[in-house]
Amino acid sequence: MEDRQLSSPSFEEVAASHLSRRAALKGMFVAAGSAALAGGVSRYALLPGEAFAAAAKAETSAPALSFQELAKSITEDQQVAAGYKAQVVVSWGDALHGGMDAFDPLLLTPAEQERRFGYNNDFIGFMPLPVGSQASDHGLLCVNHEYTNTELMFSGLKGDSAKDLISEDQAKVEMAAHGHTIVEVKKGKDGWAVVADSRYNRRISFLSTVCEATGPAAGHARLKTKADPSGRKIIGTLNNCAGGKTPWGTILTAEENIHQYFAGNPEGTPEARNHKRMGIENKPEYGWGRFFERMDVSKEPNEPNRFGWLVEIDPYDPSSTPKKRTALGRFKHEAGTCVVNPDGRVTVYTGDDERFEYLYRFVTKGKFVPNDRKANMGLLDEGTLSVARFDANGTVNWLPLIHGKGKLTAENGFASQADVVIEARRASELLGATPMDRPEDVETNPVNGRVYVMLTNNTKRKPEQVDAANPRANNAYGHILELTAPGGEGKAANHTADTYQWDILLLAGDPSKPDVGARYHPDVTSNGWLAAPDNCTFDNHGRLWIATDQGGDQAKRGVPDGIYATQVDGAQRALTKFFYAVPRDAEMCGPEFTPDGKTLFVSVQHPGEGSTYDKPSTRFPRFKADMPPLPSVVAITKKDGGEIGG
Ligand code: FEO
Ligand code: CA
Ligand code: CA
Repeated sequence: MEDRQLSSPSFEEVAASHLSRRAALKGMFVAAGSAALAGGVSRYALLPGEAFAAAAKAETSAPALSFQELAKSITEDQQVAAGYKAQVVVSWGDALHGGMDAFDPLLLTPAEQERRFGYNNDFIGFMPLPVGSQASDHGLLCVNHEYTNTELMFSGLKGDSAKDLISEDQAKVEMAAHGHTIVEVKKGKDGWAVVADSRYNRRISFLSTVCEATGPAAGHARLKTKADPSGRKIIGTLNNCAGGKTPWGTILTAEENIHQYFAGNPEGTPEARNHKRMGIENKPEYGWGRFFERMDVSKEPNEPNRFGWLVEIDPYDPSSTPKKRTALGRFKHEAGTCVVNPDGRVTVYTGDDERFEYLYRFVTKGKFVPNDRKANMGLLDEGTLSVARFDANGTVNWLPLIHGKGKLTAENGFASQADVVIEARRASELLGATPMDRPEDVETNPVNGRVYVMLTNNTKRKPEQVDAANPRANNAYGHILELTAPGGEGKAANHTADTYQWDILLLAGDPSKPDVGARYHPDVTSNGWLAAPDNCTFDNHGRLWIATDQGGDQAKRGVPDGIYATQVDGAQRALTKFFYAVPRDAEMCGPEFTPDGKTLFVSVQHPGEGSTYDKPSTRFPRFKADMPPLPSVVAITKKDGGEIGG
């Protein structure tokens, strides 16, 4: 382990020394870093902008972000920058097949829910039609449904008691509303619309969709249950958060907070230690364990081992079986971002979104074969999973999780690679990985080739626990790291290398409050600063579009969640601008551009969270007295038809 475990540098020491290193690396303005080092937090907060601008790469060909940013305000409806249009494309309950009645939440059955758009849309993948094309007006929206808000879906229920009051049928509706939707969409003169009864339209649910485990843990004893003695046939995918798209045209969906669904006491079961590390502690947020034996770990201790994976879905084949790719490890996966390396191997980046958990990378053994989808379908079953250690000298080292190497031996409870991937968290800890401030989305920039890590927040980090890559104690606002693989920019970057460089792109929060210790470009406005970066994407110019999720802090702070955009190179590096605001008590997820950059799809998740079906805090998007708020996918376009961002 490195020094960070042994000493407890102050925030300004670690951040400033890092800043100084970056400036030195770039060969300019070392003095700015030294000045920061000399100052306290408050002094430092005034300085970094200058240093940032100086440290930024000198050149970018990306056009400046030309929109006029929104004012920070929380309203019952969504808001978008002037000159843009935000149109709801599909909402919870929308029919995905022909001949169905209009949506009435009061009449919803499990079977109906399996034929309708699910709840709490998160990740969005736009997959052009025809397959392999760059179409930007026709394609499939592949959308995750992360979780359900019981008290907003059903009348007569309130907060904490909702899980104890729901019926078995309501529990099944919730299970059916989880998972994923594939829906065909087309852009016409009136904007984007769902193609009713498309042959591609499909729900993948936790209730009924059979998935197959593949890779090192498939068929392992720890994946076997009474209902599935094969250990390979898993019903459903669960808590599908962010995800990614593979170069061969499939979707990766990330199973994240799977712990919150399981009832029963894990103590005394063979999986007690494993379940504890995943947060399964007989405190379910859902009532499913009252009805289904598999949701009770005292009766079916292996069931949770069948969740917490990255799942690959072929959206172009409606009869395909989703594959749980166990080689990529089991934890609370946030994303699955793929990039093809110069040698043809594929790297997948994925975060484990919990306080003090880790950042991961998987590199395939085989090489990507362009223009042959079939040849690539097994690529994610063989390769090397690694976890990141961030060092104070500005390097990040990828530590391979390979059975038999280092401490990953039978002596430590890892009898095979299956054990390593099932308990990837424990394995990573043994290797000395760096505990992070909740790794959410991880994305690669198609222009500069660098990797951006959203670290959403960690208020549990104590002063003695700060390190160079997680430099703030009580980190309430989050930060964004930038990783540079060797080899060059864009496609030349080698995402298989053992060692990268890392930097801080920004430290989020209000830059006018010295105690926050925020760092942006000096020109960031009172509207443009952000909190809790969660998901992100890049446009074709390599500009970063950040989606935020402050949870309950949004209402408390009066700071709306939404989309913030910034350049990452050039003179306007880390100059975030506020572009879109979610309706009240929602979070923003899933930003996804069409290939032409003229539509930005976003997910409005859990509008009205914290209120109830009967007394919602918003009725977005329909604003009708008999309709609760509906999680929805929104298409943002520019009124003049141009590229988003200008
Ligand atoms: Fe589902 Fe980490 O957000
Ligand atoms: Ca997220
Ligand atoms: Ca989130």
